[in-house]
Amino acid sequence: MAEIQLRNIKKRWGHVVGVDNFDLTIADKEFLVLLGPSGCGKTTTMRMIAGLEDATDGDILIDGVRVNDLEPKDRDVAMVFQSYALYPNMNVYENIRFPLKVRGVDTALHDERVMQAAERVELTDFLDRKPAALSGGQRQRVALARAIVRKPKVFLMDEPLSNLDAKLRVSTRAQIKNLSHDLAATTIYVTHDQIEAMTLADRVVVMKKGVVQQVGSPTEIYDTPANTFVASFIGNPAMNLVDGEMTGGTFRAPNVEIAGLAGPDGRVTLGFRAEDASVANAGGEINAPIYTLELLGDATMVSVRIGGQLVAVKADKTFRSEIGDPVSIHVHKDHCHLFHAETGARIGE
Ligand SMILES: Nc1ncnc2c1ncn2[C@@H]1O[C@H](COP(=O)(O)OP(=O)(O)OP(=O)(O)O)[C@@H](O)[C@H]1O
Ligand SMILES: [Mg+2]
Repeated sequence: MAEIQLRNIKKRWGHVVGVDNFDLTIADKEFLVLLGPSGCGKTTTMRMIAGLEDATDGDILIDGVRVNDLEPKDRDVAMVFQSYALYPNMNVYENIRFPLKVRGVDTALHDERVMQAAERVELTDFLDRKPAALSGGQRQRVALARAIVRKPKVFLMDEPLSNLDAKLRVSTRAQIKNLSHDLAATTIYVTHDQIEAMTLADRVVVMKKGVVQQVGSPTEIYDTPANTFVASFIGNPAMNLVDGEMTGGTFRAPNVEIAGLAGPDGRVTLGFRAEDASVANAGGEINAPIYTLELLGDATMVSVRIGGQLVAVKADKTFRSEIGDPVSIHVHKDHCHLFHAETGARIGE
């Protein structure tokens, strides 16, 4: 059992705000992902929970007990770092065993626990090797094994896949998901890769410049982004955003006219996803020359320019045309999002 409560935690260094008013309860066994661009405060948040960084303000509770003043080793939290931080002079076996020694776990239990952890991440063939003689992916797995060997209540993983190539990322990602399910530990996982966030998370926290932008299930974050920042951070391609004007439920921008929307009159930002629009023969809501065409295999991505903004539409994989040719795009109005022109905040539900 490990519920983590973060009550308005903050981290400041002089005038620099690393994390501002982070307030969230993370349920027992939940897989929570912190997502955001470089420098948004992900690592700092993790380090505060682990006890490697003091919170400037606010309370951190694990199972109802305030841990702000507890040493990292007394928090029953295992952290996998952004860099693997393995001991270069110890072999894989000793690296994995190290946390058991530090915590004074009965030595009679060490061998079994180390072997279990090594097996879990498929490292049994490498136990005698030093980290220098391992590949990046193998080192990453040693770091994982070192975290799971302790059977902690809480896992903190800071971009544990950052040093892997694309293929290994996908397989290790699956391994981590399976691992966290089996170990039934509460996991906080940091990434700036939105695919990783969507595939792993029970809930995602999107951060920007130290401030939480939205907390929700992957579906909520994807379907109802709280603001234009979240909308433009989640999804591949990101949500199309077009600045324009609403009058009587009709949105207008150069080459765009979409009727039947629910929103106030005035300047707004319209959002819709590439897959929520299609290429029409004529009479679509957007009519503009093609800016570029990208063949993706399963679809053709067609882009047009509206004002200064590129708008992408997922067309059939057989769609072919030339750059500069006119195209008519049908935007499904039920899948349109409206955001305040100034604040970027979502308008409506
Ligand atoms: N010791 C420090 N002193 C001053 N500022 C710091 C310190 N540590 C971190 N920061 C700043 O706090 C902010 C958050 O840093 P943090 O390491 O949490 O970002 P991150 O989200 O993990 O980014 P990345 O994806 O690049 O790892 C950054 O602007 C960083 O420069
Ligand atoms: Mg970081």
